[in-house]
Amino acid sequence: MIQMELLYNVFHFIQFRSGLDRNPSRGNMRNSTVSPIMEWTPEHSVGHDLLDSQHKKIMQVCAQIDQAIRNGVDDLQNYLYVLTISAEHHFKDEEKFLQQINYPYIDKQIQDHRNFAKRIALFNLQDSIGKLDRSALQTFLYDLCLDHIENEDIRFISYLKPVEAAE
Ligand SMILES: [Fe+2]
Ligand SMILES: [Fe+2]
Repeated sequence: MIQMELLYNVFHFIQFRSGLDRNPSRGNMRNSTVSPIMEWTPEHSVGHDLLDSQHKKIMQVCAQIDQAIRNGVDDLQNYLYVLTISAEHHFKDEEKFLQQINYPYIDKQIQDHRNFAKRIALFNLQDSIGKLDRSALQTFLYDLCLDHIENEDIRFISYLKPVEAAE
């Protein structure tokens, strides 16, 4: 919860500082090429429509950020904004769902989510003072998409089946 508050503070600071354009389809989102390695496919499905659509969105923006860094795009602020909001909503919804199904590894999920939220807040802070560590950000994107969504979240599936059968 503290990390979420930190995240909000970072955003309010950034918005105050620069008059953020909330629409990522404008401005610096020039390149829409998606890094295939971070593209959502049906194999990533956890069997829950909302969580799947959120994973898809997160992987999409991660791929866009990765590509923008590779293309030398200067201003990543709008991308970071979309990533932050998407991740914040997703972590909240996912934890709520995991509580509902009594997921046995929820503590690890919550810990991972808090760490990701902290790292996102740090990247926003770095970006706001012109000191964004782009290499660390790229590593983070892969941690989030490949280590967490692809390897950790996919484990939900086996815990969904008994719940569905009991309904
Ligand atoms: Fe997730
Ligand atoms: Fe997760």
